[in-house]
Amino acid sequence: MTEVHAVTLALLPPRREGVELDAAHEFLEQFHAETNPAYPLRRRLRRVRAEIDRTGTYVHTEAEVAFGARVAWRNAARCIGRLYWHGLNVRDRRAVHTPVAVADECAAHLRACTRGGRIRSTITVFAPDRPGRPGPRIRGDQLIRYAGHTERAIALGWQPPDPPGRFDVLPLLIGTGDGEPEVHELPRDVVLEVPLVHPEFDWFADLRLRWHAVPVISNMPLSIGGVTYPAAPFNGWYVGTEIGARNLADAGRYDLLPVVADRMGLDRGSERTLWRDRAVIELVRAVQHSFDVAGVTMSDHHEEARRFLKHIAKEERAGRSCPADWSWIVPPISGGLTPVFHRYYDEPNSDIRPAYLPPTDTLRGHPGR
Ligand code: ARG
Repeated sequence: MTEVHAVTLALLPPRREGVELDAAHEFLEQFHAETNPAYPLRRRLRRVRAEIDRTGTYVHTEAEVAFGARVAWRNAARCIGRLYWHGLNVRDRRAVHTPVAVADECAAHLRACTRGGRIRSTITVFAPDRPGRPGPRIRGDQLIRYAGHTERAIALGWQPPDPPGRFDVLPLLIGTGDGEPEVHELPRDVVLEVPLVHPEFDWFADLRLRWHAVPVISNMPLSIGGVTYPAAPFNGWYVGTEIGARNLADAGRYDLLPVVADRMGLDRGSERTLWRDRAVIELVRAVQHSFDVAGVTMSDHHEEARRFLKHIAKEERAGRSCPADWSWIVPPISGGLTPVFHRYYDEPNSDIRPAYLPPTDTLRGHPGR
């Protein structure tokens, strides 16, 4: 090797595929400090160090994975629903690698968390990335998504329903490593949907709108103690505004405010009539009412805001700060009517771990909130 090469190599950070020892240490210390397992931290550290030396990575215990997944939720600065972080139902499926088995377990996840409408916050943790052996990846931001960006699925051989509708459930796209993802249809019976009706406007049902009961985020890798689990789909339950004030209302999504406003007989001649504001409230009312009628768990922005402040108070009592991103915490309607609007939060820090990492893939659906 020439001298120039040697110098260049020395300046580059070591390109390591394996787990950083420091990251493992930091996590194990936190795990032991918060959960007091029966064995000493010293022994666990010694074994993990040896395992990393030998294999480039290490295998978490079941309790470590569950703790890591829950604390990653607790650390999620954009999530208003963190009060129940400790109750996250963790499905340990680290032995599952192949796309077909991942697809089966995604369906099982939906069954386990939906429960006919009594939604339970759940995560399924699939195989981690290991040196030379990447874990599986789910392409697309949620397990259940309606057709919108279907070109990719069609290119991979998916047949969209004929005629195509506005609420066609897309198939899962599951890959391993850098290979082309496989297409796997979700069994119909695992996708609970709610037809949307309005408590007073009879015409609302004629719009034939619907939404799925459970949001399951599927493209945020779970990072615990230096180990990355690229497929770790997790769900909570919806807040009515996510569907009524964003998914159905945004001009870049279903863009339904003009439709609703016209049915309501509002004057769209000028923004000053507040026709958008009046229409969006009725959309959110319809969503909340429909989920209630269907017996599907949903909260509203007032309730969720109250819970979040309770969560912050609890975290303070536990001696922890609660990083939060104001622009994601404040609801998209009636912000100032909720207590989360009238204060600031601890600054989020992207280095915090365990964490759900930013999406690596947004093939299907929309990125962002
Ligand atoms: N806002 C996203 C959607 O409407 C879901 C994000 C997660 N939401 C939740 N309540 N856990 O599809």
